[in-house]
Amino acid sequence: MKSKLTYLLKLELFKELDNFREGQFFAVIDQKVKNHLPQWIQFSPHVFWIKNPEDEKNFETYSSGIEFLLKQGIKKDSHLYAFGGGATTDIAGFIAATILGGIKWSVAPTTLSGMVEGSIGGKVQINVLNGKNLVGTEHSPEHVYICGDFLTTLSERELICGKGEILKYGFLSKEIHVMIMDKAPLEDIAFECARYKNYIIELDMSDQKLELGRMLSYAFEDSLKITQGYALAMALKYLFKFMKLEESLYQWDRMVHALSMPMEKLTVGYFSQFDVNAFTAYLDQHSHKKNEQHVHLVLVKSIASQYVEEVLFKDLKHIIQNDEEFKRLA
Ligand SMILES: NC(=O)c1ccc[n+]([C@@H]2O[C@H](COP(=O)([O-])OP(=O)(O)OC[C@H]3O[C@@H](n4cnc5c(N)ncnc54)[C@H](O)[C@@H]3O)[C@@H](O)[C@H]2O)c1
Repeated sequence: MKSKLTYLLKLELFKELDNFREGQFFAVIDQKVKNHLPQWIQFSPHVFWIKNPEDEKNFETYSSGIEFLLKQGIKKDSHLYAFGGGATTDIAGFIAATILGGIKWSVAPTTLSGMVEGSIGGKVQINVLNGKNLVGTEHSPEHVYICGDFLTTLSERELICGKGEILKYGFLSKEIHVMIMDKAPLEDIAFECARYKNYIIELDMSDQKLELGRMLSYAFEDSLKITQGYALAMALKYLFKFMKLEESLYQWDRMVHALSMPMEKLTVGYFSQFDVNAFTAYLDQHSHKKNEQHVHLVLVKSIASQYVEEVLFKDLKHIIQNDEEFKRLA
């Protein structure tokens, strides 16, 4: 289901929330954005605070969140608000999807990555011991408020992560590509990415183009212990290199530059701990089903001209293992 997207300033967002001040305002909020919020929210007894979102994106937090909100009097017709990055909004969304059989919820993402990816599309999920995001459901927020004022306190690490997600959309949409190259404000680009994802998902939830770069990015994320968007930026570069997509590689360079991303940190050589064999072993285990020899790669020839190619996994593995940069690290 499509969410209503609004682009607004923090003061405008708080004015809108003021309407609920007297009533029952229930929220799940990342502790790190507390100082961004008005005092009445900071001291509201109806807020379930999250300290370390990714570490707490689990059953324990989910269950304490449910118990807390029920104790505070949340009802079937209550509305749950979420303020935070993708991990916080995943926990909040999963609570909203399941508490009292499911209630409505809305989100104000506070990270760049959350604005571009995490809060759009309705996937709400938590981590379990067996892996990340393995338990969840679909429950789109009613409203997603994109407010660039939250970005002022983001660390460089989180900014790179969000820019990596933006980079993907720069390959899928001509408008976003132009905004990146024109160095439009990050929050404007983020809003356009959110609009694009929201639109694509409304047409077809399983649209494969959103998977551009994902397969390699999961392997980078796992082997280098870097954030999802950071891994995605690297994945796009190597995907285009492996598949000899010269025009896309050229555009990657231009967009990374325009987004002021640290080019040197986006190469495998930057990571002394990188292990090529562990990387290909991860791909072997996760990129295709046991009995299938092929993988399906979403590729782009040039901006906004995406297609899917079936590639033999053993050929892809051969390309990776024989790439000069990767070979040097073997
Ligand atoms: N549901 C989906 O469709 C979807 C899509 C992509 C990613 N995700 C999930 O999103 C998570 C990654 O998202 P993320 O990068 O936003 O991570 P996150 O929520 O863990 O936030 C990253 C860090 O930034 C901090 N933070 C949040 N807002 C801040 C602000 N304004 N100023 C300073 N610090 C702030 C957080 O406390 C945290 O330390 C993962 O759990 C991933 O699985 C979900």
